[in-house]
Formats: sequence, structure tokens, C-alpha cells
Amino acid sequence: MSASTITPWVVGNWKMNPMQADAGQLVQNLKKLLQDQIIAESACHIGVAPVSIALLNVQAAFKDAGRQILTVAQDLSRIAGTGAYTGEVSAELLKDSQINFVLVGHSERREIFAETADIIQAKVKHALTAGLTVIYCVGESLEQRENGQAEQVVLQQICDIASVVEAEQWVNIVIAYEPIWAIGTGKTASPEDAQAMHAAIRLGVSQITPAGQTMALLYGGSVKPENAVELAACPDINGALVGGASLNAESFYKIAQAFANTK
Ligand code: PGA
Repeated sequence: MSASTITPWVVGNWKMNPMQADAGQLVQNLKKLLQDQIIAESACHIGVAPVSIALLNVQAAFKDAGRQILTVAQDLSRIAGTGAYTGEVSAELLKDSQINFVLVGHSERREIFAETADIIQAKVKHALTAGLTVIYCVGESLEQRENGQAEQVVLQQICDIASVVEAEQWVNIVIAYEPIWAIGTGKTASPEDAQAMHAAIRLGVSQITPAGQTMALLYGGSVKPENAVELAACPDINGALVGGASLNAESFYKIAQAFANTK
């Protein structure tokens, strides 16, 4: 399998949105679009990451979508198991509720919630140990890019977790490259810059594990229907992590279609 034959992933990161009624409508609208024109599971994995209190409702609501829609947690505890940890949701509790996917390392968690490499490492370790698939987010700031450090920063973020990933667990990791300056700003990395970073990530991961050759590498940062086609055409861009545009069913569907059509 070469990078271009990797089944793409399109995952909607709903962040701290929307209210219940709107979330219900969003799910219904997406199901309707999929019923009218199904996107084959073999052509694209599709997932959504709602707020934690909506995970189970959303999961149940997609049961009759006619295809699998993955329900992805936006976060997990850095503490494993169960116990007296008020407010926390562990990897095991997610797994126990059949939530099998989780985002780790999103720049909003790193920056706003001061998640350090140690915390992120613990989260990745517990998620993989519990049998979850991790969508691991990496990305540089504008300042780091302007200083020519983008690749070094991103590869370091991958090295940060390498010591806690067992050899056979790499197949349960998907990497999402999200330049911080492109998140929620309307600015997207050019397809050339995004592809160059993705190729560097693939090379870097492949030096650690053979799974790097077949790992899905998603791009994130202001992905929308207008730029999805050209991003999807890049050989090492195997999907998208979509924030704002995933709150609109039609936009999200079109992005999934763009990736499904080109791979
Ligand atoms: P955006 O967010 O698509 O709104 O830029 C992407 C993300 O943060 O995952």
C-alpha cells in the first residue's frame, strides 16, 4: 500500500459547540446528505468529535446512517482507570462506552489548557493501552514558521510521544498536522507547503516505525469545500480534521466527498 492508497479520514472537530438542538439538527442533516448520496466506507472514514456530554447521543443518532460514522472524543484524562478524579474521563471509561477514537495534542489544549509534552505523552499512552485509536495533533505557530522552525517543531512533537508508543501500537495512530496560524483564521497552508510538511512527517515517522508508510496524515486548519479538492489531491494528505466547516452538514459532507473522490 502506498501513501496514495491510504483510505482517507475526514473528522469534524466540533470543539465547544453547538447547543443540543443544533447538534441534533446537524446530525440529521448529515444523515440526509449521506442517504441521498452515500460515501462508501472504503472511500473515506468519516467521524465527528462532539462535546463529551453529547458523545453517546451522537453515537446513537448515527446508528442508522447507512454507514459507519466514527464518534471521537475531543480529550481524555491524563490519569488512567477509575478513581477519585473529579471532572475527568479516562481512556477506559471512553472504551467502556464504545468510544474508540480520541483527539490528543490539539493546539487549543496545548496553549489554552497548558498541556505539556508530559501530559500529552500520558494521554497517548493511556489511550493506546485502553485500545483507543489516537488522532494526534501537531503543528507550529506563525512565529516558528517564520523562523524556519516549522518542521523541527512538528517532528519534535512526534518524538515527544514516540517513547510511550509500543511497536505494534503505531497502527492505532493517525496524525493531524494543523499549523496553529491556520486554525479558525480562514488562512490555509498552501497545498505545496502542507504536502511538504506531510512528506516530512511521513519520512520522520517511517524512521521510527514501518507503519509510517501507511499512516493516515490529516491536514487541519480552515479546511472548507473551496480548498478541500486541492488539499485532497496531495499524495501525503490523507484526510482532514475540520473545525468550523464541520458545524455545517453540507460543507462537511462536501469535504468528505472531495477526499473520497480523489483517493
Ligand atoms: P478550523 O479548525 O477548521 O476551524 O480551522 C480545525 C481544528 O482546530 O481542528
